[in-house]
Amino acid sequence: MNIKYDENRQVFLINTEHTSYGMAVTDGRYLCHLYYGKRIEDTDLRYLLREDEPPFVPSENVRETGSFLDAAYMEYPESGMGDYRESAFCMRDERGFRASELSYDGYEIRKGKPGLEGLPAVWGSEEDCMTLKIWLKDELTGVRVTLLYSTFADVDVITRAVTVENAGEEAVYLEKVFSACLDLDDRDFEMMGLYGSWARERHIERMPLGWGRRNIASFRGESSHQEHPFLALVTPETTQETGEVYAMNFVYSGNFMAQAEKSQFGAVRMTMGIHPEGFVWKLAPGERFTAPEVVMVYSDQGLGKMTRTFHDLYRSHLIRSRYLHEKRPILINNWEATYFDFDEKKLLEIAREASELGIEMLVMDDGWFGKRNCDDSSLGDWVVNEEKIRGGLSSLVEEVKALGMKFGIWIEPEMISPESELYRKHPDWALQIPGRDITQSRAQYVLDFSRDEVVDGIYEMIAGVLRSADISYVKWDMNRQLATMGSLALPADRQGELYHRYMLGVYRMQERLVTDFPEILLENCSGGGARFDPGMLYYSPQIWCSDDTDAVERLAIQEGTALLYPVSAMGAHVSVCPNHAVGRVTPFETRGHVALLGTFGYELDITKLSEEEKNLVRKQVADYHRYNDLIREGDYYRMESSMSGSAFDSWMIVSKDKGRALVFAVQVTAKPNGKSRFLRLKGLDPQQMYRVEGRTYRGNVLMNAGLRIPSVQGDARSRLIDVERV
Ligand code: GLA
Repeated sequence: MNIKYDENRQVFLINTEHTSYGMAVTDGRYLCHLYYGKRIEDTDLRYLLREDEPPFVPSENVRETGSFLDAAYMEYPESGMGDYRESAFCMRDERGFRASELSYDGYEIRKGKPGLEGLPAVWGSEEDCMTLKIWLKDELTGVRVTLLYSTFADVDVITRAVTVENAGEEAVYLEKVFSACLDLDDRDFEMMGLYGSWARERHIERMPLGWGRRNIASFRGESSHQEHPFLALVTPETTQETGEVYAMNFVYSGNFMAQAEKSQFGAVRMTMGIHPEGFVWKLAPGERFTAPEVVMVYSDQGLGKMTRTFHDLYRSHLIRSRYLHEKRPILINNWEATYFDFDEKKLLEIAREASELGIEMLVMDDGWFGKRNCDDSSLGDWVVNEEKIRGGLSSLVEEVKALGMKFGIWIEPEMISPESELYRKHPDWALQIPGRDITQSRAQYVLDFSRDEVVDGIYEMIAGVLRSADISYVKWDMNRQLATMGSLALPADRQGELYHRYMLGVYRMQERLVTDFPEILLENCSGGGARFDPGMLYYSPQIWCSDDTDAVERLAIQEGTALLYPVSAMGAHVSVCPNHAVGRVTPFETRGHVALLGTFGYELDITKLSEEEKNLVRKQVADYHRYNDLIREGDYYRMESSMSGSAFDSWMIVSKDKGRALVFAVQVTAKPNGKSRFLRLKGLDPQQMYRVEGRTYRGNVLMNAGLRIPSVQGDARSRLIDVERV
């Protein structure tokens, strides 16, 4: 890892172990992009600017400034001066004029990585990281933009963020502050993203890159089920092992836009940042705005290398929880078992049976507070409903603890039911536009988390509950998307800040929670997996992946999720069949395997299981203890993908020292009259010998000739196969 600045050539070069990123200053003023790709050492790179080709640089041909601006590879392009591609920055001044001229104004290189005010961000020590700051300045308004780039010793990642300061005399209005832009020559790139819906989150999509712009975005106030703050450009030959990948992932949980644009000269501009829809930030003199971070990964060894790079970064430089490297308690959640229909007796019945089978924690889901017996009331009334939980919370927790189990609880702090004590007391706390109906979703409104007194008021109520009993786990849910965006506390010229201020409020409360209750294991959740993003991982080591717990559906959801996020972060539970989301029946064993390859737990009425199923639970619990260290800490390799049309789905986890591996193979749909097949393993040491099911093989035999998987009857039949070096 290093960062160089070649003074003579005015070239910056940022190196990770295997990748490089280059920029140059032209005309003493424009910051242009030079290079991103496989590692190079030299700074003799100015030829990449094509300075001698038309359209010329302005100093040589001022007549054609416009042509230059619309063709050069810009590091942080701005709106209003003649670059007609997607801009990264747009501001309006007090007079209403919309333009800026961000000119190069110096740099600083230093060890370590600064945090981002109020925002989640990748972190690292002075030994692990280096940061380059490049300053740009708009002379006319005095606005200063700082571009931040960090590089890491142990992962091939470059992170980027942007801050904007108003050092001028008058306010400006920021209408767009993207966090990253990357201009590249087109190499027949295809675009990859993750799309979905409720119960169908993060399915992988790969599509050709046509002329013009195609974006992946959310202005739902959250990173969303529908689209995901991730975009990759891949060369056509890209597979798990081969091809080039340029990927960006946003460390943010609110509105975003990620876009690829193919321009007239066959160049591609990739951008990522806060969605400009509904965003205008007033920056008064002396104020600063910080745009969230983008993680950039370049891989010349296909998607597999990209995936492992993201996993390593998030496990060593993003997730902070003390539980990250620990085996987390196997939990049982009562949601699919009871929905709202439970009392302390039912919970204790579940806990009793669960503890006998080796389950370690009971999580009490939605319905324990206020008068909440269905989903149309009481959000905001964070007081235990003693008609349901007779004897109170601490007595229930003590009884659960007496069974040798821990206790966890569900909350949805950002919401308020119109039918609640809180709403009667503080109707102004809901997001709303005076004179208009507030859009309801799941019969609830959204609290105005841009207001400190709202965040603090809710926090105090919830902290009171957490202090009232020995609570080991919190599931923080968020069950609707944002609309009727108005705050009764913000002045007219700051209403455009609401979406982002809302996110800052959420982050502030999560920070307070993890600081005040460091022993509590936090799991984020949003109507299933609508906020499974790097922003949330900064606060919680795990996130509920989806409300769809069907084992077959989960193959696709967990494949898409694991494309970026470590398996140790994926909330996954065994539930009953027919499955509540799709009605499908799958073997209990397969449901166990799919959940084991996540955080692992149960979400069913365990008192109703057959003896045979209870024995399978015992086996799954034993498998969890046997494999979780490997699953949590290992490297991920994908072999087959049912999402891409294969009848099989398989992937494996290999320990960092390549001494151990666990293969997961599932036959999704059975075919008659079939033979066994050979599954080629990945990631092993080619020369070492491995034992698999009582036989030994050399690593290169397993990887090239493959492991024999017998043909079986039945759909959704899975196996976990242990591979150990001898
Ligand atoms: C969301 C969550 C579920 C459950 C319900 C409770 O849908 O994803 O797991 O907690 O809310 O209302």
